[in-house]
Amino acid sequence: MVLKIKRIKEIKEYVIEKENITLLEALNYIKENTDPTLAFSWGCRSGVCGSCAVRVNEKEVLACEYKVNHEDIAEPLKNMESVKDLVVLHDAALNKNKKAYAYIKSFKNDVVTEDDEKLNEVQSDCILCSSCYSACPVFSVNEEFLGPFALTRVWKYTVDKREGDTKSNIDAVQSNGVWDCTLCNECTVVCPQGISPKQDIEKLRAKSSQFGYMDPNFGSFGGFGNDFGLSF
Ligand code: FES
Repeated sequence: MVLKIKRIKEIKEYVIEKENITLLEALNYIKENTDPTLAFSWGCRSGVCGSCAVRVNEKEVLACEYKVNHEDIAEPLKNMESVKDLVVLHDAALNKNKKAYAYIKSFKNDVVTEDDEKLNEVQSDCILCSSCYSACPVFSVNEEFLGPFALTRVWKYTVDKREGDTKSNIDAVQSNGVWDCTLCNECTVVCPQGISPKQDIEKLRAKSSQFGYMDPNFGSFGGFGNDFGLSF
């Protein structure tokens, strides 16, 4: 089996004398047998820590879960600073969480019931792999976009009963936030935990409307009369 890996400016091909293995096993095989300089990240080997996320054939996967195929092309996550080979810095994605205030800002001491927990139990399963951040096409036109990673976490805290200032959550995601998403669903497709940032962004939009916000693009279409050549 041949595995191709994008390294800095070239694609290198590696022959692996094994079949039916995960990408992480293949990378370790290469490091032990062919190229000790190959750099990649991993931790738990069981889909829990999120540190092994990479792209294969232009889709984000966890290397420890993905079964590698002949002639697959592996490359580092997008939208983040590359360190070496398949290793990236996650700082850009994590900084967007800070910028979006994706945490509880005004703690309210309240009893959280099992039913309350269900409101954000899916979002709480996030393993911080940044796959959604990598898959988002909006960053190619707007680097300031908060992105699916931060926005889905903002939703998580917006529905948390212990957040005493929900409005400030919503205020923080108006600029370069919920209205800048194209709802393409790429983030949802690649999430290894089955979280749908797209749906959470839609819920944040609905919540924004409750607080009096509206899509800033809505008023920039020029009016129906002009678009249809009619005047009202
Ligand atoms: Fe932890 Fe893959 S090594 S998720």
